Amino acid sequence: MEKFLHFHLLISILVVLGNANSLSPLNSTYIMQTRKRFMSIDPTKLPDPPMPSYTFTVHHRDVFEKSKFKDYDSLLENRFARCYARASYLASVLESQDGETTPQLVPKSTDIFYGSGEYVASFLIGSQMTKNYLLLDTGSDLIWWQCGPCEANKCYKQDQPLYDSTVSKTFRIIGCNHHGNKCRIVNPAYYCNLENFQCRYDMHYGDNSQTKGFIADDVITFLVGHWSSRVTFGCSKDQTGELNFTSFASGIVGLGRDLTDGYSLPSQFGGNLMSMCLPSFDSGKGSVLSFQTSKWPRAKSAELLFNYRYPSFYFVNIYKVFINDREVPVSPSWWNFNGPMMNGGMFVDTGTSYTAFPHDFYTVFRYIFREEVNDIPMAEIPVQPFDTCYKEDPNGRDLYFPVVKLYFGSVNSSTMLFLAQQRVVVHYRGLYCLAFVGWNSERSVLGMAQLQGVGLTFDTVASTLSFDIDACD
Ligand SMILES: *[C@@H]1O[C@H](CO)[C@@H](O)[C@H](O)[C@H]1NC(C)=O
Ligand SMILES: *[C@@H]1O[C@H](CO)[C@@H](O)[C@H](O)[C@H]1NC(C)=O
Ligand SMILES: *[C@@H]1O[C@H](CO)[C@@H](O)[C@H](O)[C@H]1NC(C)=O
Repeated sequence: MEKFLHFHLLISILVVLGNANSLSPLNSTYIMQTRKRFMSIDPTKLPDPPMPSYTFTVHHRDVFEKSKFKDYDSLLENRFARCYARASYLASVLESQDGETTPQLVPKSTDIFYGSGEYVASFLIGSQMTKNYLLLDTGSDLIWWQCGPCEANKCYKQDQPLYDSTVSKTFRIIGCNHHGNKCRIVNPAYYCNLENFQCRYDMHYGDNSQTKGFIADDVITFLVGHWSSRVTFGCSKDQTGELNFTSFASGIVGLGRDLTDGYSLPSQFGGNLMSMCLPSFDSGKGSVLSFQTSKWPRAKSAELLFNYRYPSFYFVNIYKVFINDREVPVSPSWWNFNGPMMNGGMFVDTGTSYTAFPHDFYTVFRYIFREEVNDIPMAEIPVQPFDTCYKEDPNGRDLYFPVVKLYFGSVNSSTMLFLAQQRVVVHYRGLYCLAFVGWNSERSVLGMAQLQGVGLTFDTVASTLSFDIDACD
C-alpha cells in the first residue's frame, strides 16, 4: 500500500514538473532577467517572416507599448487597467442586449471604457503593401483600418504608415445600390446612405472611441508565393471619439464567430478553421494567426457552444474546475446558459487578460486555491486588482503553485485544459498573485493570461475549440 502511494506520488510530481517546465520557472532572478530582456526589445525591428496564404504574424501589444513605461510593473498596471476596462466593455455589450430581441455588438451606453485588445497581427494592405498592425478582437465582427487620405484631425496618430486608398490600385468601393452585393446591414452599426448609396458603418466602442467610414475592398498580401486575397473592410475616415485608439495599431480585426453574411475575417476566408497561438506576455516573440489550417495536434478540446443572443462570441462548455485534485464544488449545470437572457456560461476573449469568474464562484475557487498552497507565505496586503498574493522566495528559489484544471463537457484528459505557473499566477511588485478575478456578471470569460502560449484551434464545423499547451515557437 505504502509503495503504491509513493509510486502514485512520484507520478504526480513528474506530471506536474513536466508541465510546469513549460513556461519560465517562478524564481525571481529568472523572471527579472526575462523582463529585462523583454523591455530591451526594439519594436521597430520585430521579425515579420514572409507568411503563407491566410497566415499572419501576431505580437503582444506590450512589445509596442513598453517604451512608455518606466518598468515592467508599470506596464503590468496598465494591463490590469485594460483588463478592467475590457470587462466593463464586455459587460456593457452583454447587458445592453439583455431584454432586446435583435442581437447587436454595439453597446448602447457610451460611458464605459474599452480596452481594445491585447494582440496585434501584421497585414500587408493594398497594391502598395502598406504594413499595418491591427488589434485582434474575438468579440466583434468588422475588420477596419484607418483609410487615408484623412481629413484634418479625423484620424488618430498611428505609428505605422497610413494606408491611402487613392494610391492603392486594387481598392474598390462597395456601394449599396443593387441587391446581392456585399453591403450587409447586419446590425444597427451598418446602414446604407441613400443619398450616395455608400455602405456605411458607425462603430461605437463604449468609451466614446468611435470609428465611422464606408465598406470597401482591397487585397492583402501573404509573401510566400506572392499570394494575395481580396478582403472586405471598413475604410475608416473618422475616429474622433473622446478617446483615441492606440497608436501602434491602425485598426481592429473582428474575429467574431463565423456569422452568415458577417464581415469578420473568419467568415470572409470561408474557412471553418481559425488557429492562433498568442505569445506569452513577456516572451517578446511573434507567433501566428491562421485561417483554414492548424499546425497543432489539437490534443485537448472543448465544445464550442452557440449562444443565439451573442452569436459572434466563442462560448465553451466548461464543466468542472479542479485545483490540484480538488474539485471546486458546483454542479456542472450551474455553468449552463439560463433563462431567456442566456445568462451564465463561459466564452473565450482575446481582449481579456485575466480570466473572470462570477463573484460567488470565484470566492470558492480562491478559498480552495489558498488551502492548496503549501509553505508559501501569503502577503497580508495583496496588490490590486488581485486578492490572493504570495511572497517570493527570499533566496530566489523556484516556487510551485497549485495547478488549475478546466474540464469541458466531461472529466477526461482529452477535455482538460491544464494550467500551471504563469498561467495561474502573475509576478507583480515582488508578489505572486492568483491571476484570476471575480466580477459582477453571471458569465465567465476565459482570458489570455491563462491561454498565453496555448495553440488555439477554433473549428466551427466540428464545433470545437482545441488547446495545445506551449504551441508558440
Ligand atoms: C487624438 O488624436 C488627435 C490627432 O492626432 C489629437 O489631435 C487629439 O488631441 C487626440 N485626442 C486625445 C484625447 O488624445
Ligand atoms: C532560477 O531559474 C533558472 C532557470 O531555470 C536557474 O538557472 C536558476 O538556478 C534558478 N535560481 C534559483 C535560485 O533557483
Ligand atoms: C475520454 O475521451 C476519449 C476521446 O474522446 C474517449 O475515447 C475515452 O473513452 C474517454 N474516457 C472516459 C473515461 O470517458
